[in-house]
Amino acid sequence: MKILAIETSCDETAIAIVEIKQQGKTTKFKILGNEVSSQIDIHKEYGGVYPALAKREHIKNLPLVFEKVLRKAKIREKDINKKINAIAVTTGPGLEPALWTGIVFAKELSSKYKLPIVPVNHMEGHIFSIFPKKGKNFTIKNTKELFPMLTLLVSGGHTELVFIKNWMKYKKIGQTRDDAVGEAFDKVARMMGLPYPGGPEIGKLASMERENVVPESLAQADGPSTSKNFSRNLLRADGNNISSEILEIKLPRPMMYSKDYDFSFSGLKTAVLYMIRDIGELTDDIKRKIAKEFEDAAFEVLSYKTMKAIREYKIKTLIVGGGVSASPQLKKVITNEIKKVRKSDFLKIKAHFPGRGHTGDNALMIAIAGYYQYKNKKYTTKLGSIKANGNLSL
Ligand code: KG4
Ligand code: ZN
Repeated sequence: MKILAIETSCDETAIAIVEIKQQGKTTKFKILGNEVSSQIDIHKEYGGVYPALAKREHIKNLPLVFEKVLRKAKIREKDINKKINAIAVTTGPGLEPALWTGIVFAKELSSKYKLPIVPVNHMEGHIFSIFPKKGKNFTIKNTKELFPMLTLLVSGGHTELVFIKNWMKYKKIGQTRDDAVGEAFDKVARMMGLPYPGGPEIGKLASMERENVVPESLAQADGPSTSKNFSRNLLRADGNNISSEILEIKLPRPMMYSKDYDFSFSGLKTAVLYMIRDIGELTDDIKRKIAKEFEDAAFEVLSYKTMKAIREYKIKTLIVGGGVSASPQLKKVITNEIKKVRKSDFLKIKAHFPGRGHTGDNALMIAIAGYYQYKNKKYTTKLGSIKANGNLSL
């Protein structure tokens, strides 16, 4: 069968057409077309996504992206009802004005070509985003060995740990009580005068800092943030010892040792705000140090709680998804910790991250999740029942 998928939950207008074949326990996917039109340059000016602007841009972009995908998939408009079997569309979570544009577009296509609609949860899409590899073809094996699974979903709107007993059976075990981790990255970046989206910008500065300086300052869990001048020896990567007056940057690891699986990133963000106020003028060197310490603090907390859940639930597969999973540092931290858990707890756990180009919002992941929903008969031709839900939960 062929699925056309539409994703407009935030600032990417994305459409994909995917062909799916079931062969025994293996599901074979072939990407016929997969286009993403990003609005980042437009939202950059505002330092974040501006919903009314996102809506306007989606409305403008949807027909153009649609045309492009059809061309790539070599499907003529008049053949759509013969070639496509269902339309999958993101109905939430996300920005409601943005979600509605995709839903309205899907409904128009559904009426015109007499196709059923499969409503898809954006976060479920992120879970499936680990399967596409390089190239157009990939498979998903329906095997029990993968379970129980755990997924760490980290994006601009979400920070969640979800236990997955079997496909489509989700139990949220923890989530952020305030800001999402990606949101904290974006806000901290803004405080430092870096462009939106802040995650990759902070990541770049943090890795510059890591490459240059060897000794690390270990911050106290939940301890106060401090920034003080002190003199110490720095060992640079080029081997030269240099002594200088530098600033020691320490940030708290909020809720790291709390008994639950919840997170909190708003205090960490505020700690950075106060630190910046204390410091006054931010030099490039200080920006790099703050970026590194902020990234370390956020990722240590994410990783610590994820490992704790892996041990408690005897997890066999970890899936990390959402925009923040693009961070090479997060991948490094989690992969290292997984190695330790495998040794200490004799767990045969494997961690999976989305491949390049699949970490951010896209319609390919909506097509995959849509296929499984379709197989579960979660499709409809009653268009009135399909609504946007900005707070839709797994
Ligand atoms: O999943 P996504 O593309 O959109 C939402 O559904 O929110 O996630 C976007 C978020 C942004 O907050 C962005 O700053 C963050 O992912 N992000 C990163 C990195 N790349 C993107 N955060 C940290 N490090 C990165 N390398
Ligand atoms: Zn997303």
